Amino acid sequence: MSTQTAWLNGEWQPLEAARVSPLDRGFLFGDGVYEVIPVYERRVFAFKPHLQRLKHSLEATGIPNPHTDEEWEALCNSLVERHPWTDQYLYIQVTRGVQPKRDHLPQNCLVPTVFAYTSELKPMDEAVLQRGVRCITTQDIRWQRCDIKAITLLANVMMKLEAQRAGADDAILIRNGMVSEGTASNVMIVEGQSLVTPPLDHHLLGGITRQILLNCAPAIGLLPVEEPISIQRLYQADEIWLTSSTKEALPVVELDERSVGDGTPGPVWQAMRSHYQQEKQRLVQQRGGAS
Ligand code: PDD
Repeated sequence: MSTQTAWLNGEWQPLEAARVSPLDRGFLFGDGVYEVIPVYERRVFAFKPHLQRLKHSLEATGIPNPHTDEEWEALCNSLVERHPWTDQYLYIQVTRGVQPKRDHLPQNCLVPTVFAYTSELKPMDEAVLQRGVRCITTQDIRWQRCDIKAITLLANVMMKLEAQRAGADDAILIRNGMVSEGTASNVMIVEGQSLVTPPLDHHLLGGITRQILLNCAPAIGLLPVEEPISIQRLYQADEIWLTSSTKEALPVVELDERSVGDGTPGPVWQAMRSHYQQEKQRLVQQRGGAS
């Protein structure tokens, strides 16, 4: 039996015992949204921006927000308290709820399903960080609302599998010749003294790690730039990083079988890596985290 305790619709229960109806719209239609929030030193990291993004996803999809900000915060804190790990990652999912008759059109009386659990957040494997990762580029086959953190991740799964089949670790997604993001991360490039990432729009998720890294850039002598990145520009970058709450910044050393820089994790990534660890420490001390 699992030692993890999950929250499902107002009740705590062992993760493995938690059950939702097969008529839940999340199961039948992928009709739901989610969040992944890291916890460092038993403190929820950057809670405010994560909550803000969850509220954006709920509002954009028209799923009623089932909790107040205070209730969401209490739920996150309870998840942490109920589990032994110092560093964790919280998973929160809200679907539109169970509908007795399958219909694309949702009934408006539905009660959202709320599911949350936590796992141990282990640091990235040091060997992977030393070596870096290999990526392919692929056409971004997703929909036009990638700013919503939707549970409907089939396209992301397919593109990740495509990368695996090509012998790569991940894929960088290209829409109309421009970089959008990774399959589960944002993309940043280093060009000289600039840290460049595509501007926020409907084609990518507003990553919390992305924003923290942009905020950190000046501290290590980098100019943060939000600008479209063409595939040609991507190929010429000094460094490429994938960024997310669980990966932090991950150096890409090979793209479509060509070396990025000299084919090893670059010096700017090394500098950002140590700065980001300090910044994490600072932000966990500060209630609410990054803005
Ligand atoms: N995903 N873009 C996509 C498509 C993502 O799925 C994620 C994160 C990000 C980075 O967002 P953040 O920095 O806030 O983690 C960007 C999470 C980790 C996941 O699905 O597990």
